[in-house]
Amino acid sequence: MADNNFVDDGEFIYVDKDIIDGDDGYIYNETYIEGDYDDYYYEEPLISLFDVVKEYDKGTVKALNGINLDIFEGEFVSIIGPSGSGKSTLLNMLGALDTPTRGKIYIDGIDLIKEKDLSEFRQEKIGFVFQLHNLIPNLSVIDNVQIPLLPTGMSNKEMKERASEIITAVGLEDKKKQRPNKLSGGQRQRVAIARALVNNPSIILADEPTGSLDSKTGELILGLLMEMHERYNVTLIIVTHDNDVAALAERTIKIKDGQITEDKYNY
Ligand SMILES: Nc1ncnc2c1ncn2[C@@H]1O[C@H](COP(=O)(O)OP(=O)(O)OP(=O)(O)O)[C@@H](O)[C@H]1O
Ligand SMILES: [Mg+2]
Repeated sequence: MADNNFVDDGEFIYVDKDIIDGDDGYIYNETYIEGDYDDYYYEEPLISLFDVVKEYDKGTVKALNGINLDIFEGEFVSIIGPSGSGKSTLLNMLGALDTPTRGKIYIDGIDLIKEKDLSEFRQEKIGFVFQLHNLIPNLSVIDNVQIPLLPTGMSNKEMKERASEIITAVGLEDKKKQRPNKLSGGQRQRVAIARALVNNPSIILADEPTGSLDSKTGELILGLLMEMHERYNVTLIIVTHDNDVAALAERTIKIKDGQITEDKYNY
């Protein structure tokens, strides 16, 4: 399969892809990139989408209409587009929270459509930061942050230590025992980020993480996410309405009517 793509400096190059469907049900997706270089080098996308379509209401609504996309490990990608263009739907697909009507999605070698039990995949690989952060009101901050660790078989002590460490990292050490309804919106968002990061995910999916916040708190939240990306090479994918936020990412994907209309690197 041949495809065209952009490299870091925005130069147009030719990409030749070999997709090998292994006996084990895993996919091996090899991309050979030919640039100004004499020889080929090799990078395997962390996330690959092929012709992904998501329809609602018996096909009358096409939330996603043929998405083809490769995202590489350690990238910081922003997704921007008008309201109703399919951004959240796309993010839900990437987090295996929803399945496409048609098309294929591979993440870290896993075929998300074939895989029967995706809960383990989500727990191990993905950190979700959504605007409605779904904190549990009658649990303390530390207990909320520990939730993703419960199925891992860690001891109580290990879980408390890990959760405390990450709560300190987001600057809420003094709020550990507090309940979420006693916190400000920005503080709750930080709890949600701590919870998303507690299990060291390799991918963070953030849907409008700064949407409801004042600009100063928004900057702080973004700073936290970007630090995780820079420090731990976490693949960071942020949906936003805000062009300034989008421009902070290394790569910006524009979506309109369920289709990618632009995919560019910001340097
Ligand atoms: N469960 C659903 N049932 C029917 N239609 C849906 C459903 N979820 C989303 N849609 C429709 O799919 C389209 C894409 O929705 P989506 O939530 O992905 O948009 P968005 O880009 O995230 O918008 P916003 O910026 O407003 O959050 C919209 O037209 C929406 O009305
Ligand atoms: Mg949305």
